[in-house]
Amino acid sequence: MKPSFLFIGFTGVLLFSVSATMPQKPLNELMKLKTAHAQEILRYLALGDLEMVKKEAEELERVTVEAGFDGKDEEYRGYGREFLRTVRRLTLEAANGNLAGAYYQFSRMTGVCFACHEHMRGK
Ligand code: HEC
Repeated sequence: MKPSFLFIGFTGVLLFSVSATMPQKPLNELMKLKTAHAQEILRYLALGDLEMVKKEAEELERVTVEAGFDGKDEEYRGYGREFLRTVRRLTLEAANGNLAGAYYQFSRMTGVCFACHEHMRGK
């Protein structure tokens, strides 16, 4: 193994342990991450690459769980649960190789992004 690989590996382990001990990222950072994963899902759906859709949807689920839905009202938590449900269905459809099903769950999922944000803006 080349020394540069060793260095990259070491840096990776270091970054991992630092992030594991750091306090949770602020909500707006997590939302930016969510947006990035949602964009990637759209991109891979357009390419018909369900393997990558599945991977991105799993990441999106992980970030969503990290963000959590505590400390807000019941309606907010309801959107949170609905969001997680659609992300999980999206992962399932992608795993089953069902492109039309994945399109459908993706559009439902983005609908929940908009619904929760509207609710937050008091509409
Ligand atoms: C259950 C409610 C809920 C859902 C679902 C939700 N969000 Fe958010 N979002 C929030 C809240 C609350 C904030 C405000 C966070 C802050 O700025 O402190 C926010 C903020 C944001 C921001 C602004 C971040 C910034 O500061 O630049 C973006 C972009 C965003 N969300 C995108 C999304 C996308 C894309 C989805 C769907 C894939 C989504 N959100 C789903 C509640 C939600």
